[in-house]
Amino acid sequence: TITTLYAALLGYGFGSIPFGLILAKLAGKGDIRQQGSGNIGATNVLRTGSKGLAAATLLLDLLKGFVPVFLAKLWFPEDMGWTALFAVLGHCFPVWLGFKGGKGVATNAGVAFGLMWPLGVVYAIAWLGMLAVTKISSLAGMVAVVVTAIAAYFAGEPTFAKVMAIIAVLVLWLHRENIKRLKAGTEPKIGSKG
Ligand code: G3P
Repeated sequence: TITTLYAALLGYGFGSIPFGLILAKLAGKGDIRQQGSGNIGATNVLRTGSKGLAAATLLLDLLKGFVPVFLAKLWFPEDMGWTALFAVLGHCFPVWLGFKGGKGVATNAGVAFGLMWPLGVVYAIAWLGMLAVTKISSLAGMVAVVVTAIAAYFAGEPTFAKVMAIIAVLVLWLHRENIKRLKAGTEPKIGSKG
């Protein structure tokens, strides 16, 4: 139905705002895509040396996943899965940047909180826990995404589980260079220059 289209556009509209790129530019750090890993996410913004800028990127990238899903829950709950999927797709493939965006970890955290808050809690625990232990952002993000997809399945929410599973496959694929570096033992720890 037409609400499915609205639901997808709502997600994509929010998700495709490249906060990392915008904030880094406004702060005079230049084009984040030319630095570190070239990614537009908070991990790479941190490599500019500004913790505040990285924290703001993380928060805004999370909110742009949470807000549209929260609104979809009010407006067209039966289609909120589409909003969730398209918020992450918007972040990863923003039309404004020639479809070259981020890797989806922060936006998907917000999406998880918006779909069902306990999933967000699972996500946060897995993410922060792995980050504390390994200090490797990509690894922590990938583990959180996969764990949350499994949790959605066991929560008895087939639609959310399907959405989270699709996002998990996408997030892993977008991390293929990170996975190569992890295997080679060259993936940088958080805060070091990438
Ligand atoms: O969310 C992105 C993170 O998982 C990896 O970022 O810059 O280390 O490739 P980066």
